[in-house]
Parts: sequence; structure tokens; C-alpha cells
Amino acid sequence: MYSEKVMDHFSNPRNVGEIEDADGVGQVGNPVCGDVMKLTIKVEKDQITDAKFKTFGCGAAVATSSIITEIVKGKTIDEALEISNAAVAEALDGLPPQKMHCSNLAADALHLAVDDYLVKNGMEPRAEKPSHDDEDHDKEQVDQ
Ligand code: FES
Repeated sequence: MYSEKVMDHFSNPRNVGEIEDADGVGQVGNPVCGDVMKLTIKVEKDQITDAKFKTFGCGAAVATSSIITEIVKGKTIDEALEISNAAVAEALDGLPPQKMHCSNLAADALHLAVDDYLVKNGMEPRAEKPSHDDEDHDKEQVDQ
């Protein structure tokens, strides 16, 4: 059973779309289910000022994508890298166990977007470790 927050963000997703002059872009896909998420961010003075997403996927993937764009606004780069898939699920008042892997898309896309920003600005990438739990091995990054 999905929480009210999941249903709300699935039915009325926030920040859908793509930032044209994005400072960072992260895209991940789940090869098992085929779902894909693309997250674009704007960064000013080490702070994420805007985030938008495009997700081709299940309801949980859409809801986690939507809420992570809300969570991340105003966060610093350091804080954004700390956002885990578990934190995303918690922000939605939980996900059914079998859908927890869906939250990986959002957290990993965010971390990749931050890395993209860092690399574009001459810094070292810092999100080399995927945020997913040990039992989740069904996801990989999508080559662009
Ligand atoms: Fe693919 Fe949810 S079933 S991300």
C-alpha cells in the first residue's frame, strides 16, 4: 500500500521537465524494469537553487523523483551528496519493500548530477559509490 505522500507526488509531480542551462545532469536507469530518470540541477555558490526531473517509470519512481527535487532545493553540494535512497523513501512516509529499489533512481541521479557539476567546474567527482542498499544489484548507470 502506498502512502498518501507517494500518491500525491505520483498524481501531482513537482518540478517536471528539464533545466535548459543546467549546471549538472544526472541520468540513471534500471535495466531490470527499464525505468529511466534524468535530473537536472542549477547551482549557485555551492547551493542547489533549482532541480527538475524527467522520469519514464513506475509510480514510485515518479514520486521519488518528484520529492527529491523538493528536498534538494536550497541544499549545499555536501548536503545533496548525503541524501540517500532511504532518506528519499522516508520523505514519502515510506515505500513498500519491493519498491525500495525505485528510490535508488532518484538518489543516484541526484548524485550523478552533482558529480557532473563538480567535474564541469574542475573538481573531483565525489559520488562514485552508488547509494543503493546491498540487496539491490539490479541497477546500473545509463551511458549517455
Ligand atoms: Fe522500475 Fe520502480 S519498477 S523504478
